[in-house]
Amino acid sequence: MGFRKDFLWGGATAANQCEGGYNEGGRGLANVDVVPIGPDRFPVITGEMKMFDFDDDHFYPAKEAIDMYHRWQEDIALFAEMGFKTYRLSIAWSRIFPNGDEKEPNEEGLKFYEDIFKECKKYGIEPLVTITHFDCPMHLIKEYGAWRSRKLVGFYENLCHVIFNRYKGLVKYWLTFNEINMILHAPFMGAGLYFEEGDNKDQVKYQAAHHELVASAIATKIAHEVDPENKVGCMLAAGAYYPYSCKPEDVFASRNNDRENYFFIDVQSRGEYPAYALKDLERKGIELKMEKGDLELLKENTVDFISFSYYSSRVSTTDPELLEQTAGNIFASVKNPYLKASEWGWQIDPLGLRITLNDIYDRYQKPLFIVENGLGAVDTPDSDGYVIDDYRIEYLAAHIAAMKDAVELDGVDLLGYTTWGCIDLVSAGTGEMKKRYGFIYVDRDNEGNGTLARTKKKSFDWYKQVIATNGEDLSTE
Ligand code: BG6
Repeated sequence: MGFRKDFLWGGATAANQCEGGYNEGGRGLANVDVVPIGPDRFPVITGEMKMFDFDDDHFYPAKEAIDMYHRWQEDIALFAEMGFKTYRLSIAWSRIFPNGDEKEPNEEGLKFYEDIFKECKKYGIEPLVTITHFDCPMHLIKEYGAWRSRKLVGFYENLCHVIFNRYKGLVKYWLTFNEINMILHAPFMGAGLYFEEGDNKDQVKYQAAHHELVASAIATKIAHEVDPENKVGCMLAAGAYYPYSCKPEDVFASRNNDRENYFFIDVQSRGEYPAYALKDLERKGIELKMEKGDLELLKENTVDFISFSYYSSRVSTTDPELLEQTAGNIFASVKNPYLKASEWGWQIDPLGLRITLNDIYDRYQKPLFIVENGLGAVDTPDSDGYVIDDYRIEYLAAHIAAMKDAVELDGVDLLGYTTWGCIDLVSAGTGEMKKRYGFIYVDRDNEGNGTLARTKKKSFDWYKQVIATNGEDLSTE
């Protein structure tokens, strides 16, 4: 019993939140580089405020991030010391294709990731690669309007051809788009979408989503053709919606909120636009432009596994304005009075992870992979620079226990678990360094000060013990 013997324990990062080196190695500029910290961040990531380049009035944390571009060997050695079986990372598209629309890739970018994958293999760590984690080359945004344009499908296809061939034998697990449903809530960060006055935003977002869904199916097709060993997953920002009350209207609202997210995975995993989505698009007056063959592509190239991030459950009601709201992953939700919250207001619900695992497994009957989970918290190092992060250990232990129940008691087929931000990195939502998730402390603050030195936290040894016992020993003392 317990987790499968080859359970993939590890941690997750994204290129733009840890690499830095934004103008090194021939890399081109991307949307994720030009999102500043501070009050303008939200308008920029939602596509309401135009920021297509750096200006002197803002600080852009991704430019240097935690400098993993120069320190990856040290970081991977630390992951190996914890016993990682897998390391989830993303490729920066603009390192491989600086503009996005070139025919030939940038060798220096390709080599950079090849070295990383080889280093992982040296330690027996299986790379789990997100092809796009929120990043889109700026040139594609300025020239084509990013994923608004069908042309992006071809550029993404080219990227996939190159990386699947180059990394054949080195990488087996691939995710096509990080949190694909974020296109609805953070369209500039998620898909490079900026809105002009008069745009029908829903029309733009769902058309762009269609392009991503087709691109995802094409990626799956190519991955399987290049190497039948490849396993391709979709990736959802998950978290079950609970009805605020047993009022049937609240229950129905929670179904509809869940469907807004599952829509993407329904297409990627079941291979077709679900009836409820077609009706909803019709009601919203959205007409999707499709090309001949799109529906067959979607049908014939469904994903091998479903991956998702889970930080919190959410609450639905028909009267949200009457109730207190709380912050969540990018968008707010009604506050659940039964749950405590993190310092950033994200509510903590380990049983919600078991519920979410069951919901997704019931719906798709494919292997699942939790590729993000964790607690963003303020860490205060003691005089020796050591962080005693018992709150993080407690959060992770409770969530791992819940996923163990889902596996042991409910029979969910779970491939692995990677905690988010296994090393402290820049927050996607706020741009802060102060919101830390890691087992490894990085000396850097919100303003970019600090030595960037890495120090193990108390949770480092705790997670090492969890992995060594395949999740049997979760004791927190
Ligand atoms: C997910 C993203 O939305 O949540 C990550 O895939 C992100 O990129 C993570 O960092 C945590 O969110 P935040 O806002 O705390 O960084």
